[in-house]
Amino acid sequence: MKQNLFLHLLNAAKDVYSSSQALKEFAPWPTDLSYEDKPVVLVPAVRQIKHWSNAHPLHKAAQQVADFGNWKQSYTENEVGFGFLQDYGYLELYGPDGHFKTNAGRAYLGYWGRGLYYPWHRHEAEEIYAVVSGSGYFESQGQEAALLGSGETRMHSSNQPHALTMTDGPILTFVLWRGKGVEGLPLMGTDSS
Ligand SMILES: [Fe+2]
Repeated sequence: MKQNLFLHLLNAAKDVYSSSQALKEFAPWPTDLSYEDKPVVLVPAVRQIKHWSNAHPLHKAAQQVADFGNWKQSYTENEVGFGFLQDYGYLELYGPDGHFKTNAGRAYLGYWGRGLYYPWHRHEAEEIYAVVSGSGYFESQGQEAALLGSGETRMHSSNQPHALTMTDGPILTFVLWRGKGVEGLPLMGTDSS
């Protein structure tokens, strides 16, 4: 039952991947994915995710696994504030610590609630965001800011600082990482020291 929900999620994510030239060019889809029974770790945002109706197949699949997710929040209250942690969370769909294990890449589903500001941060790994549902205002150092909606993508190079603001409502994103630092976590701030 739980495994089937995650397989459904994986297939819905693969459909998004397969229909996006930008995602396909960014990284290959791993061929060695194996399901891992990860412990359930819930975050307050699960409640909001389940109540946000949207017809996108990956959005619906994410809602169906929400109660079984190994949800993560890689930031502390000191870094982002109490309110942020009440309406944010992400799942590692595949990767070294993902619901599907692989060392050949890393993919996340990330959710941020209405009105949140995800402050400037950076990481060594290169990254591409694909908006699944909702929208957000993407800012990246050295690049024009843009309000992106479903199907649109945004790439960040290694250690390029970026920020995200949820203007009109929440956002659900599918995110791929590649390259050096793929084992690491994002760090707050814009300096790379
Ligand atoms: Fe990022």
